[in-house]
Amino acid sequence: MKSLVVFYSRTGTTKKVAEAIAEKIGAEIEEIKDTVDRTGAKGYLISGRDAMKKRLTKLEPFWHDLSDYDLVVIGTPIWGWNMSVPARAFITEQKEKFKNVAFFCTMGGSGGQRAFSGMEEIIGKKPLATLALTTKEVVSGDISGKIDSFIGSLGG
Ligand SMILES: Cc1cc2nc3c(=O)[nH]c(=O)nc-3n(C[C@H](O)[C@H](O)[C@H](O)COP(=O)(O)O)c2cc1C
Repeated sequence: MKSLVVFYSRTGTTKKVAEAIAEKIGAEIEEIKDTVDRTGAKGYLISGRDAMKKRLTKLEPFWHDLSDYDLVVIGTPIWGWNMSVPARAFITEQKEKFKNVAFFCTMGGSGGQRAFSGMEEIIGKKPLATLALTTKEVVSGDISGKIDSFIGSLGG
């Protein structure tokens, strides 16, 4: 199965998981990049507010053509009990191009399932697998078992 891992990460946690998944399944990987500066306290505030309001954002160009891939694995941090604003913008822009999808997120502690439901709703496809990890789990480095079981559900 030709696979691509796509992720947004503001502070590197989701990126770490994306890289681990891509390496284990031998997938290509591309980061979703936002044109909005989300650094610092101001960035945190606008990001939380915009995520809760389900706003979109202008993204930088994305280079891979999703229709070339049998599976796209999408990763996002949780913001305001939702997917991040750049992840919402990305899947909204690309929603016609997905074949099979799987979702993962990193979060302080809650909102993962709600975000996954929102992603499924926009794309209109049930994910083959989902994986919600806490920031603490990712930072402690003890995620390989959960990643392996996520990958086990992807099939092919
Ligand atoms: C604006 C903002 C809102 C957040 N809201 C939530 C939330 O609702 N629930 C939660 O568990 N974590 C929340 N977090 C924590 C992040 O989901 C968590 O730190 C995540 O691992 C960050 O991923 P990243 O390093 O890839 O950006 C929030 C973080 C930010 C910046």
